[in-house]
Amino acid sequence: MNLVSSFKSLTPKPFVTRWRSPSNIAFVKYWGKKGHQLPANPSLSMTLKECYSETEVLFSPSDSLKVELFLEGKFEKKFSDKIENYLRSLNLSWPSQVHYKIETRNTFPHGTGIASSASGLSAFALCLTDYFYFLKGEEGNFFETASFLARLASGSACRSIYGGFTSWGEESDLYASPLHVHPDVLKLRNTILVVSSEEKAVPSTLGHGHMKEHVYASARFDQAKVHFQKMKSALRSGDLEMMGGILESEALSLHAMMLTAPKPYSLMKPQTLKAINMIWNFRDETKLPIYFTLDAGPNLHLIYPEVHQEKIKTFITHELSFIAQKVIDDERGDGPVKC
Ligand code: DP6
Repeated sequence: MNLVSSFKSLTPKPFVTRWRSPSNIAFVKYWGKKGHQLPANPSLSMTLKECYSETEVLFSPSDSLKVELFLEGKFEKKFSDKIENYLRSLNLSWPSQVHYKIETRNTFPHGTGIASSASGLSAFALCLTDYFYFLKGEEGNFFETASFLARLASGSACRSIYGGFTSWGEESDLYASPLHVHPDVLKLRNTILVVSSEEKAVPSTLGHGHMKEHVYASARFDQAKVHFQKMKSALRSGDLEMMGGILESEALSLHAMMLTAPKPYSLMKPQTLKAINMIWNFRDETKLPIYFTLDAGPNLHLIYPEVHQEKIKTFITHELSFIAQKVIDDERGDGPVKC
């Protein structure tokens, strides 16, 4: 099935649209692909609120495909080329007769090591879907199409299309779907501990590739499938202890895949391990439900319920923040908005 095949032969017209789309943090990780941008295992994430990209796209008919992307007002050749390659990969005839002028900005500062691909590429996919629907003159599964298009740009971006909690790879491998959860889970907070803002030594796309010949690949995919089901039931019943156990196991398994990759590497820093041990000690002593997860990088996402935020924030401010370069406060968000 190709959700964009009905958009193959459209006549470009001028159009402008603007979307704000958030980042997300995976509770069960997507790590390993099959086919064309399809996940090797199901994943599940919480959509954030404060960390988002705001993107405006001005579409103008043109003789050839031209992409100009400006990040915070500055022309970015690397990102312009990435979008151009992505548009070509869609195999639609008309995008090659459009000039795309993209103005984008992120709420989270540059150089904090927080990946902007999920928010940035989901915001662009939403603008593109808006354009498709405008040219076609129809209403339909707008968000499904946007998630499909976002997935083709970056897997994790397809989960940012919906607010709250989102899964990808269970109902469909082609796009993400919103997940119904317990009301307590909707009040989860996410404090990001930026321990290093260096650019990643190994990009995620390469890491996914390593899973093709990884000695533990099939065990990892089996583990992720079991974790996905358990995480889903923990989120539905509001069982934070079960959620937290799987959350941390997912983070450490992801990094274990890097440590045991055909060409081993580590994206964790000494401060990452120090913070993990401090969190474990604090949890043992206080019995408070604070858990961590990691993306493909050294920075920690601390996940905890709003009801305990006072004591947990005191711990973060007085103990953890000293080993971080920056602390960003976020929480579960409602998803993208057209603005
Ligand atoms: C560790 O979505 O960045 O954040 O599809 O190649 O763009 P591409 O990969 P990407 O991978 C994200 C990996 C992760 C886990 C996750 O978000 O599920």
